[in-house]
Amino acid sequence: MNKLPFVVVACAAAAIAGSAAFAQQQSTVPPGVADAAIKAAFPGAPEQFIPRLSQDETMKQCSATRNEPPKAVAEEIQKREKATIEYPADGKFIGDWKKGEALAQSGYGMRFSDYPARRVNGGNCYACHQISKQEVSYGTLGPSLFQYGKLRDFKDAEVKATYEKIYNSHAALPCSNMPRFGSNKVLTIEQIKDAVALLMSPDSPVNKD
Ligand code: HEC
Repeated sequence: MNKLPFVVVACAAAAIAGSAAFAQQQSTVPPGVADAAIKAAFPGAPEQFIPRLSQDETMKQCSATRNEPPKAVAEEIQKREKATIEYPADGKFIGDWKKGEALAQSGYGMRFSDYPARRVNGGNCYACHQISKQEVSYGTLGPSLFQYGKLRDFKDAEVKATYEKIYNSHAALPCSNMPRFGSNKVLTIEQIKDAVALLMSPDSPVNKD
């Protein structure tokens, strides 16, 4: 099994990440069995892919608490994740919405068939969100982001919060089901600014009727 369809990888990733929105039922699988199955599932994976088969501390804490960490653990996760956020050197959070739309559409990157990288990663945002109205194919795991900026009055504080949410979703919601795009080096700071522009620019199609 050399190539798994992307959807299988995405589902495995989502299962590992867990979700506060979907608190899971108590598992009947003995401890360690799921981890071993995941590790054994990617025999042809390139070296760079392997570390992603092990949970980091945040994932472990979310799994251990079925995505409902007690307050102290939630605060610990948020503090740790927030500390990973790097901010743009020029202090500007808004890039180019057209580039943001392109990366929102692109699911390239992080699959083991994407090593070595042949082009820049995408964010695959439409896999989980409605964004621009022109794109009719989208997933619904995440909330609709249509009119996102308009609904927030394009406020500066919201622009910054959006950058932080995309950079590291777990800083905002401890056991978020959204990938940590900046902290996990899926997207660069410039790309995250472009995604912020897509959501927060008044001239972006997201904020048109
Ligand atoms: C695997 C699914 C998934 C992907 C891919 C994804 N998101 Fe999300 N996103 C979510 C979920 C689920 C939420 C709801 C809250 C949470 O779990 O963090 C969310 C929440 C958000 C929010 C906050 C919405 C609100 O109402 O406060 C923003 C902004 C956002 N996502 C932007 C993006 C952008 C931009 C991308 C692409 C770079 C992206 N998301 C990719 C699942 C995803």
